[in-house]
Amino acid sequence: MDSPNAPNSSSAVGLDSFPPQQLIFGRSPAMQIIRHKIDSVAPTNVPVLIQGDNGTGKGILARYVHLRSATPSGPFVKVNCAAIPGTLLEMELFGYEKGAFTGAHSPKPGRAEVASGGTLFLDGIDEIGLGLQAKLLQFLQDRQFSRLGGTEDITVQTRIICATHRPLEREIAAGRFRQDLYYRINVVNVNLPPLRARSEDIADLTAYFLELHRERHNCMARTLSAPLLRLLQKHAWPGNIRELENLVERCVILRSEDAVSAELLHWDRTHLTPDLPAHGPIHLKKVTRQAVHDLERKIILSVLEANRWNRKRAASELKISYRALLYKIRQAGLPGKRSPKVAHAAKAITATGTAALTVK
Ligand SMILES: Nc1ncnc2c1ncn2[C@@H]1O[C@H](COP(=O)(O)OP(=O)(O)OP(=O)(O)O)[C@@H](O)[C@H]1O
Ligand SMILES: [Mg+2]
Repeated sequence: MDSPNAPNSSSAVGLDSFPPQQLIFGRSPAMQIIRHKIDSVAPTNVPVLIQGDNGTGKGILARYVHLRSATPSGPFVKVNCAAIPGTLLEMELFGYEKGAFTGAHSPKPGRAEVASGGTLFLDGIDEIGLGLQAKLLQFLQDRQFSRLGGTEDITVQTRIICATHRPLEREIAAGRFRQDLYYRINVVNVNLPPLRARSEDIADLTAYFLELHRERHNCMARTLSAPLLRLLQKHAWPGNIRELENLVERCVILRSEDAVSAELLHWDRTHLTPDLPAHGPIHLKKVTRQAVHDLERKIILSVLEANRWNRKRAASELKISYRALLYKIRQAGLPGKRSPKVAHAAKAITATGTAALTVK
């Protein structure tokens, strides 16, 4: 159970926990809209459903909502529904009475009770089985439940926040999630965008993580170079903000950008695929334009690698002018040249046999 203190600013909010953390909204329009929505909804008691891919910040946003709620000094109780098997989850949530099962020597309150006067955060709500979903629905309707093996109705006043990385609409269609429960938890919906859709925020997030890990590792790492920042802004970030944080931490510990740049370039060369939305319409023209752009970047990168970053030779191989290549390198956010260390690191990666793209 965490009990974070009150927020300290409107742009980056301190979550006073260990390790120290802040919530960076950044400047992207999508995050500004979320921020306004949350700021008006948080002080009410309505349930909030947070959706978003892994590592997009669902957990940290849930804590932010609690900090901005009417009961910020109350408990913040997180239940990781994915980590607790079915029957145990029911006991964990609603508690049990003495003698409810063999080994229940004393009564135990559930997390719903512990969260009374604060926030109950149900992380991975899609993982709850249909049986328990029915009991949860009942609880959400009248804030009442009984402990396992108990007869007494217990009433608690607690704010409910749920999070999932799966589109619940799909789970409903597949018969794995109750539609009535969905309507109950989805009074306010926040859909956190993947990091690749928030490239405007990468500089702020990077600066924040750099500072955080400098302090944590007691290390005076420099700010990241402009070419590396451009690479970060172009990366696809399958692991979202968690991946960015790990990468910045690696830079701080290694006190070197080269290995990290090589890693990103190698990933781009081998993984780029069309970026299709998880749900909603697919704008064919937009997606195709992006795919062509990504493919061009991949080809340029491979040809530069193959020519040891000799840009004149690469331009001639690509049958474009030297100036056109320089322009495309800049457009694609690739570094203008490659330091010997980066070359060495990339060679080491290629030598492991992990699918280096060859364009000849
Ligand atoms: N907006 C943000 N500002 C600062 N740090 C952030 C932000 N979003 C995420 N982080 C950091 O990124 C990491 C991942 O965040 P978090 O655990 O909240 O993601 P998540 O969506 O809950 O991931 P998962 O689906 O895997 O549970 C954490 O270390 C968190 O502190
Ligand atoms: Mg989480």
